[in-house]
Amino acid sequence: MSIIKDDWRFSNDEVKLITKVILSGESSSMSGSINKRFEEKFAKTVGAKYAIAFNSGTSTLHAALHSLDVGYGDEVIVPALTVIADLNVIIAQNAIPVFADVNPYTFNIDPKDLENKITSRTKAIIVVPLYGLPCEYDEIKKISKKYGVKVINDAAQAPLAEYKGKPIASLFDITSFSFDATKHMTTGDGGMITTNNKNTAMKIRKFGCLGYKALTAKDGRIRNIKDIFQSPNYSRHDDIGLNYRMSEFQGAIGMIQTKKLKKLVNLRRKIASQFSQVIKNCKYLLPQETSKDMKHSYWTFTVRNINNNISWKNFRKKFKEFGGTGIFASWKLLYQEDVFKNGNWKKRCPKLYKNYRHHVCKNAEKIQKQLFQFPLNFKNTKSAQKSIIALKKTIKYFD
Ligand SMILES: Cc1ncc(COP(=O)(O)O)c(C=O)c1O
Repeated sequence: MSIIKDDWRFSNDEVKLITKVILSGESSSMSGSINKRFEEKFAKTVGAKYAIAFNSGTSTLHAALHSLDVGYGDEVIVPALTVIADLNVIIAQNAIPVFADVNPYTFNIDPKDLENKITSRTKAIIVVPLYGLPCEYDEIKKISKKYGVKVINDAAQAPLAEYKGKPIASLFDITSFSFDATKHMTTGDGGMITTNNKNTAMKIRKFGCLGYKALTAKDGRIRNIKDIFQSPNYSRHDDIGLNYRMSEFQGAIGMIQTKKLKKLVNLRRKIASQFSQVIKNCKYLLPQETSKDMKHSYWTFTVRNINNNISWKNFRKKFKEFGGTGIFASWKLLYQEDVFKNGNWKKRCPKLYKNYRHHVCKNAEKIQKQLFQFPLNFKNTKSAQKSIIALKKTIKYFD
């Protein structure tokens, strides 16, 4: 009998596997086998060779920068319109954030502006398939090759998105995912990095697990060599690292959620197509422009409201009155956040950042105020209907 009544998010399968972990007594990925199985399953599902489980989609990005040797004074290009995690990991490495503008129709990083921001100090580029829409990856790849700068693909919002028929995790050296509670699949909190490069996998795994030298690209278990491990002459660590591991309990949930990932993504796609239908004839709500080469995975259904006479506040109020679940606005741009404006971010390296001036990203500034984000985490298409109908009514109300 199922102990979970509303089982679209978590089901009896998660409960069963967690119970198995509890009964096994192996709650750490350094000794248990669930995380290893989860990593293998996830890598296969998203189309990559290696996957390393982390405790968040922020620690994954931190490890990604470390693996590219990003350090003091290096520049890292990042879109101005993204989550604060992308900025904070750059600062955590004592590197310099360089903001690139976005395309006002796709909301993703603009490759032309990205290229303009490259300097001799650029060490890495972070790109973000925002809301689930793949970036213009061919152009980004060309820039990466031309200047010899590596790309971190922050696909926290875009599992199973595709570009020219390929899973986006197969395109770059490093792709990062988040499993926080709002994402397509969740482990409560958690993350994963995928790569096709063995050395990168190894470096990333070591950074996430205190630099233990017994770690391998494909295996985080190190306590299975106790005879060696417990010797007083054994030196355990040959690299720097933090503890960003995922526990076996979360790994158990992740394992089951990975099995459901395709279904979960397709459900959001289906609901998004219903939202698209509703706004099709609306002149002022512009959806993210998606080309035939791209398969969106729809974390949220996000549109730009180009009618200045309709505010986010009023539209949202009516939408909720008509029975909609709510509408998120976009984050502030990274350089518009208080932590950036008040200079608190500079405290780690005041000398380095003394003469820092950020670039102004005009498109991002314009569209940030216009974005309406409709959450898509419904348990089925039926439960999304109230919001779909509410959107229809709201559009009619403002016509
Ligand atoms: C694009 C993007 N990158 C990174 C993160 C950070 O992930 P986490 O919350 O798991 O640390 C998020 C979370 O929302 C995100 O949306």
